[in-house]
Amino acid sequence: MASKKPKFKNDRALRFYNEVLGLDRLHYGLWEDSDERTLEGVKIAQKRYEDFLLSEITTLSGQPDTTRILDVGCGTGVMSESLYKNSFLVEGLSPDLYQKEIFNQRIPVPFHLARYQYFETNNRYDIILMSESAQYIPLNKLFAKTDELINDKGHLVVCDYFTYDDASGPMAKSGHKLNEFLIAAGLNGYRMIKQKDITLQTIPTLETAKIFTEKYILPTLAIFGDKFREKKPFLFKTLKWFLRKRIAKIQKELVLIDAEEFAKNKAYMFFIFEKI
Ligand SMILES: C[S@@+](CC[C@H](N)C(=O)[O-])C[C@H]1O[C@@H](n2cnc3c(N)ncnc32)[C@H](O)[C@@H]1O
Repeated sequence: MASKKPKFKNDRALRFYNEVLGLDRLHYGLWEDSDERTLEGVKIAQKRYEDFLLSEITTLSGQPDTTRILDVGCGTGVMSESLYKNSFLVEGLSPDLYQKEIFNQRIPVPFHLARYQYFETNNRYDIILMSESAQYIPLNKLFAKTDELINDKGHLVVCDYFTYDDASGPMAKSGHKLNEFLIAAGLNGYRMIKQKDITLQTIPTLETAKIFTEKYILPTLAIFGDKFREKKPFLFKTLKWFLRKRIAKIQKELVLIDAEEFAKNKAYMFFIFEKI
C-alpha cells in the first residue's frame, strides 16, 4: 500500500498579518519602556528580539562561516535572513506552504518543508534554533529528533513561552510545561548553559494586541454586524445561532491576549542547551 503523504497547510493567519497588517514576523517582541504600544512599536520590538537571538548565537558560535544552523519553525525566514546576512550557514524548516514561498523569495538557502519530528536528512547542525516553535513539537519527539540532527557538542537554542505547573484555562493550552521541558532536557543529555526569563519584556506584545483589538477589530466587527442585522435580520439570527459555539470560543480566547493572565500562567524563556 502506498504510504500516506503528509498534508501541509497554508498559514491563513500569517497571510492576514502579512498582507493586511504589514507584519511578517511571527514572534513576540522584546520591548523597552519607551516603545510605543502601536503596530510600529510591535515591529521595533520584534526586530529587537531577533537582534537579541543573533547576538546570543554569535557569541555562542564564534565562527559564523563554519556554523551550520537549522532554524526550526522558521516562519517567513526573517531570523534565517539575519543569520544568513551574518555569514552563518543557515537552513530553514517549516511545515507550511505559504512560509516556504515567502522564505524562498527572501534568501537562497535550503528550506525543508517538514514537521521537525518527522524530518529526515543526513545533514548535521551545530546549532538547532527553535524560536517560538518548540511549543509545537511533542516533547517526547523533540529531544529524540534533536539527537539525530545535532553535531557532537552542538547547541539547542530555545526561545519560547512555557506554562507553570498550576496554569489553568485557555492559557494552559499552549506551550510546554516548563518543569517537564527542563526535566526532559536533562534526561536526554542536554545541559542548560544559559537561561534568561524575558517574560516582562515580551508581554507588552499582548498589551498592544489588546489595544489594537479593542480599538479597531471589535468596533469594526460591531459595525459590520449591525449593518448585517438591519439588512438581513433573519439570516443574521440564523448565522448567529449556527456560529454560537465558535463565537463563545472566540470570546473565551480573548483571554489569550491578556498580559496579566499570561504572566500568571506562563514564562517566556530563553535557553541554551549543550549536548553532552
Ligand atoms: C510562532 S511561529 C514562529 C516563527 C519564527 N520562528 C519566528 O520566530 O518568527 C511558529 C512556527 O513553527 C512552525 N511549526 C509548527 N509546527 C511545527 C512542527 N511540528 N515542526 C516544525 N515547525 C513547526 C510554524 O509553521 C511556524 O513557522
